[in-house]
Amino acid sequence: DMVDKQGYDHFMLKEINEQPDVARRIMADRFTESDIDLGDIEEILAGDYKKVMITACGTAYHSGLIGRFLIEEFADIPVEVEVASELRYKKNFIDKNTLMIVVSQSGETADTLAALRLAKEKGARVVALTNSIGSSVDRESDASFQLMAGPEISVASTKAYVAMVLVFYLLSLKLGKLNDNISEARLKELIDDLKRLPYRIQETISEFAEISKEIAEAIKEYRSVFFIGRNIDYALALEGALKLKEISYIHAEAHPAGELKHGSLALIEDGVPVFAITTREKVAKKTLSNIEEVMARGGQVNLITAKNIEYDKIEVDNKLVLPEIDNIWSSVLAAIPLQLISYYTALELGRNIDKPRNLAKSVTVE
Ligand code: G6P
Repeated sequence: DMVDKQGYDHFMLKEINEQPDVARRIMADRFTESDIDLGDIEEILAGDYKKVMITACGTAYHSGLIGRFLIEEFADIPVEVEVASELRYKKNFIDKNTLMIVVSQSGETADTLAALRLAKEKGARVVALTNSIGSSVDRESDASFQLMAGPEISVASTKAYVAMVLVFYLLSLKLGKLNDNISEARLKELIDDLKRLPYRIQETISEFAEISKEIAEAIKEYRSVFFIGRNIDYALALEGALKLKEISYIHAEAHPAGELKHGSLALIEDGVPVFAITTREKVAKKTLSNIEEVMARGGQVNLITAKNIEYDKIEVDNKLVLPEIDNIWSSVLAAIPLQLISYYTALELGRNIDKPRNLAKSVTVE
């Protein structure tokens, strides 16, 4: 192995701790005062698109769900996100007016590659987000954005995911600028924030290590755990649930917060752990009422929230307040406690953290 754990017990923990550096690498030399330089991808982004389509599998798909919100918000273009193994076998509306974004850490996932080929056949322009220079996805797309996360060994993706999410921020801001949907002043503000983000990521990792261990202790005996959120926070909930189940083997499910009462609420009883993510001011109040529904049934609520969101009045079991930053960026930071909680839960349970049973790092079969 060319890569070693550099003193960490597991690759996963090492890779979580590499995230501030990954963020720095992605952003290095990209900013002027009020613009973002995306190199040769810009020529493709500048096209006149009726819609954007994002396709990927697994954790990469979850980054795409975040990408959808960002592109819709900043660039005002409709976005569809489809799991690659579904996109291939359904009617699609991909054409030459579609900007296709294909996301793959390995660049070799069979379904993702097949979806990329399909999009090209249909005449779409294809931008890839990949962590693997020279991979099939890298070679076959019209242009690639290198994630620059370095080798990711742990099957459960952490640093590549955060890299994907960050790249979606850059892409969506650039698209917003190209479409005149974002003012120079606002972009300047956002760029200033972005420059501080690696440090905030660092802070989040150090600040939440202890409480993540405590939460791991509190949830490890339960058979089922739920994750809820709205909008971007729902995309984060999906990734939180995936991370937890893949390495701890505890059943974990994510729901849009408003959907809980349409089924899973029946499973909430004394102590059942629920993670609620509320980094989005606009919808936080609504999620609050869902949290109250859980508490009324004795559920154990772990809240991941942002500084300027008012949750003083409710007494949840654990409250993780992310470092102060414009809430737009909280979705990068909120991923971190979710990674740490999964890691420490799997550690408590003695699981094979870097190589969970039945799973592979790169899935080259369909
Ligand atoms: C596998 C890995 C996941 C990954 C997914 C997609 O299932 O275990 O961590 O998210 O494949 O991989 P890709 O390399 O295309 O991002």
